[in-house]
Amino acid sequence: MTKRFRQRLARAIIIDRASPGSVSIVGRVACGRTKENYRFAGRFVAGKAVLDIGGGTGIGHDLLLAGGASSILSLDRHVASTAPGGDARVRFVRGDFLTCPLADGQFDVVICLGTLFYLDDIDAALAKMHRLLKPAGTLIVNCINQRLVRRYFAMPLEEIDGKFSTAYDEPGLRAFLKNHFEAEPDLYVQQPVPVSRSLAGLLGFWLAPLTWPLRRHPVVPKPPGTEGMFVYAVVNKNG
Ligand SMILES: C[S@@+](CC[C@H](N)C(=O)[O-])C[C@H]1O[C@@H](n2cnc3c(N)ncnc32)[C@H](O)[C@@H]1O
Repeated sequence: MTKRFRQRLARAIIIDRASPGSVSIVGRVACGRTKENYRFAGRFVAGKAVLDIGGGTGIGHDLLLAGGASSILSLDRHVASTAPGGDARVRFVRGDFLTCPLADGQFDVVICLGTLFYLDDIDAALAKMHRLLKPAGTLIVNCINQRLVRRYFAMPLEEIDGKFSTAYDEPGLRAFLKNHFEAEPDLYVQQPVPVSRSLAGLLGFWLAPLTWPLRRHPVVPKPPGTEGMFVYAVVNKNG
């Protein structure tokens, strides 16, 4: 398979089309993934002021509100609208996270789901997320698993499309967050695939993406013998 073909295939699969009402297979998987992202984040937001970086069209904000979020500031470079349903607790702002002026120490929870690998300067972004959090605040972040991207497409995420900055595998994400937060993150995965070298493991690995349209995509502690296609971390700022 040529590199160009692999790039096109990867773009078709990876670049999300999680808009409400998507009818394509990739679109429906993306929406399912997004819903589960927010269902997961909803566990950490009761009574909290939340910043959602890359909040997109607001798919899943209902799940944060159901989780008890007291307010949501949804910041997105491309999308700004009024809150779906006009909920006064949700505010949408259009802007680039790295340059958007926001006062430090104002959020209990910062969410960055499906978005880290689009940010131009990931180090500066993490430093800003840390600054925006109140003491003991919580960051919830995920990224595409770079190790699996390399195995499926024989190239790193940043070679698939110029939109992507970089991605991490599980140890890489852990080390990156420890460096910025000086705290140990809790890690989770979404869309786990088998990683054993047995024939069954190899078959499971290559067939897994074909079954994704048929399944839900909950965020879970990593099942033994698997790697998550998406790696999640929850880390607290020292109080
Ligand atoms: C794949 S969507 C993720 C949507 C949702 N958070 C989720 O979990 O599925 C990535 C979003 O990040 C936004 N985005 C990308 N770069 C950004 C930046 N520098 N600042 C703010 N938003 C950005 C895009 O416009 C897009 O809506």
